[in-house]
Amino acid sequence: MRKQIVVGNWKMNGSRVTNEILVSHVINDVNENVDVECVICVPFPFLGQVQTLVKNSELSLGAQNVSDQVKGAFTGEVSASMLTEFGCKFVILGHSERRMYNLENDVLIGQKARSAIANGLTPIICLGESLEEREAGDTKAIIKRQLHGALGEVGHESLERCIFAYEPIWAIGTGKTAKPEAAQEVHRFIREEITHIDNYAGQQVRIIYGGSVKSDNAFELFSNDDIDGGLVGGASLSGEDFKKIYLAAKQKNK
Ligand code: PGA
Repeated sequence: MRKQIVVGNWKMNGSRVTNEILVSHVINDVNENVDVECVICVPFPFLGQVQTLVKNSELSLGAQNVSDQVKGAFTGEVSASMLTEFGCKFVILGHSERRMYNLENDVLIGQKARSAIANGLTPIICLGESLEEREAGDTKAIIKRQLHGALGEVGHESLERCIFAYEPIWAIGTGKTAKPEAAQEVHRFIREEITHIDNYAGQQVRIIYGGSVKSDNAFELFSNDDIDGGLVGGASLSGEDFKKIYLAAKQKNK
């Protein structure tokens, strides 16, 4: 059985004071329940602080972006080796907000994932369609393009080192969660696409759902066969809610 994973995406939120409160809310539960992985992806300037806060716990640290380059004259960029120096194990890539505001494309996202993997990080590659694309019946075509576009750079041999997040854009931060059956259908599709490339990887790779995951819908979503946890934005900023979502993933393992 694939290990469930719940990932908090703080986006551009937090402060030294609130980070400490938030982490202290979740850390003890995570310590007790090692059978579900729990990760928080924080803004770059807080990595050092949160690295110290999560030390000796089962709560893992991640970032929300990385450069595709190793080092040098790339003002404003952060390399994968810098992230590992701060204890990062994961990095979110290809989030729809970065695709939209920073014009990141599938190839660049794949190159970033390759750089992350080369440095021992696990990329969490986001895939998802807009409302117009869904209404036009293009969901699977979009997901397929995003998946294969990124994998073309990552290389099939590194497929197992990736996590994929299905994040329908229309569900992000809107309170409109995808219906569990609809999410499961896309997750199954992603898994089939991966299985066509590599049967073993298709069974092993974790595919998590993101888009208005809350404490009251998490279990229903996570209980689907091909949904291996969640990528949680807004609700990860509340210690209480994030903890409940984490516990919902744990319930699935029962
Ligand atoms: P949300 O964000 O949970 O606030 O919808 C999810 C995400 O953007 O990863």
